[in-house]
Amino acid sequence: MSTHFSSPPRLLMGDDALESAAADLSALGSRVLIVTDPGIVAAGILELVLDPLRMSGLPVATFTDVVGNPDVATVAAAFAALQADGADIVVAVGGGSSMDVAKSIALLATNGGEIGDYEGVDRFQHRPLPIIMIPTTVGSGSEVTKGAVITNHETNVKMVIVSDLLFATIAILDPRVVAKLPGRIAATTGMDALTHAIEAYVAKGANPVTDAINIGAIELIGASLVKASRGDAAALYDMLVASSMAGIGFHDAGLGAVHALANTLGAHYGVHHGTANALFLPYVMDYNISAAPARFARIARALGENTAGLSDAEAASLAAKAVHRLADETGVPRTLSELEIADDRLEDLARDALQQADLPGNPREATYDDLLALYRRAA
Ligand SMILES: [Fe+2]
Repeated sequence: MSTHFSSPPRLLMGDDALESAAADLSALGSRVLIVTDPGIVAAGILELVLDPLRMSGLPVATFTDVVGNPDVATVAAAFAALQADGADIVVAVGGGSSMDVAKSIALLATNGGEIGDYEGVDRFQHRPLPIIMIPTTVGSGSEVTKGAVITNHETNVKMVIVSDLLFATIAILDPRVVAKLPGRIAATTGMDALTHAIEAYVAKGANPVTDAINIGAIELIGASLVKASRGDAAALYDMLVASSMAGIGFHDAGLGAVHALANTLGAHYGVHHGTANALFLPYVMDYNISAAPARFARIARALGENTAGLSDAEAASLAAKAVHRLADETGVPRTLSELEIADDRLEDLARDALQQADLPGNPREATYDDLLALYRRAA
């Protein structure tokens, strides 16, 4: 089967990246709406971003009510704010939730209707408003991907909306924005980035271009995740860059069973996305080894494991061990019971996970029984 790689948005990286972006804004439109969440406001990050953006000379309005695992109602509220202001540039400041809402309202502005109308691949025709992404966590990769994930609470499904038209115009990776990221958030969002790079590296859609980017991301995450979770500012910036690399690496290669299990858990219980991925990642790696032993051996080396003299199968088993160790050292939750989720509905979860859009990318074809067994391992 053929594979593909789409060019990601323009990345502005490093010191003063925010100021550099301001110079580009006035060429994109006349009014800016920032989409963010209350935590970003409380942490002072909105303030940090506002001054450089105002250097563009454009009026800047804000919508600050994004919630985690954003749903149809969140999108509708943000879209009402966009229409009330008349903004024609959407700037997301936040994690995956704010970025997904920003993409959603940018496409509603030019295509009309409701966000549920566009679930699936290439379901809208008109180019969305220009989107500027300022990620404040180190995981989702949403700043460089062409998809948005919005929860539909009526069906307990995370709708995935994908189109080449949904790429942001510019993604800004500024070290100041993540310098004070709390360690717990660095750990959980960083585990999401690691999951992206690992799942995409072994996914059915992987190709030499995505391989190079994903292995680079795995190496950078292996070297910086623990330090980032302990507040090291340089490591936090490395994680910010690595999470964008992983985003670029997975958006065409695809993901797999970890995201199918995690997105289902998130839709049913509202579990933070990175936390949910961290629960399942090492178990799915073990499950997938037989489908790609040489690739898992390469992952083990990228995570710093010494595989000299080992067969691919022996080296491959070290990859999941390295991920267990990273999870332990960063202190992310390791079991469903730690999250106070009982094991009485695992059958429902497995049934829904089987329908998840990410599952067909998994290198091994997972059955209902396989998914149920993976949920039980994490119980
Ligand atoms: Fe993810």
